[in-house]
Amino acid sequence: MSRDSQAGAASAGDHTVTVTHPEGTARLSVPDGTVLRDALLAAGLSPHSRAGRRLNCGGRGLCATCGVRLEGDGEGEDANAPAPDHWHDGLAARFGYPRLSCQVRVTGDMAVEIPEKLVWGGRESDAE
Ligand code: FES
Repeated sequence: MSRDSQAGAASAGDHTVTVTHPEGTARLSVPDGTVLRDALLAAGLSPHSRAGRRLNCGGRGLCATCGVRLEGDGEGEDANAPAPDHWHDGLAARFGYPRLSCQVRVTGDMAVEIPEKLVWGGRESDAE
C-alpha cells in the first residue's frame, strides 16, 4: 500500500482509494482484497477517534469505532460501495450510519470519507 507521495510501488492488482479526512485528501494504492481499516491504518489515516485508537475491538466488527462514509453507499443500483456482508455493517448501511471499515474489503477503486469523530458528546481534536 502506498500514498500518492510514495506512488510507484503500485501493482496491477491494486485499487485506488481516495480518502477524505479532517486534514485533507489522500490517494492510496491498495492491493485487491485488503480490509479497508487495515489499509487506512497502514497509511497512517486512522478511522478511529483518539480514544477509539486505544479502545477498539481490533477489527472484529463489534465496537463501531472504525466507521467511514463510502461514496455511493445506499444509492441502489448506482452504488459503487461494496455491499455489506457482516450483520453490524449491514445495519449501518441500512440505516445510513458510517460503514465499519474493518468489515469492508477493497475490491475496486473507491472513495472514502473519515468523518470527524464525536466522543461522549464532545468534539475531539486530533491534537495529541
Ligand atoms: S474495529 Fe471494531 S467494529 Fe471495526
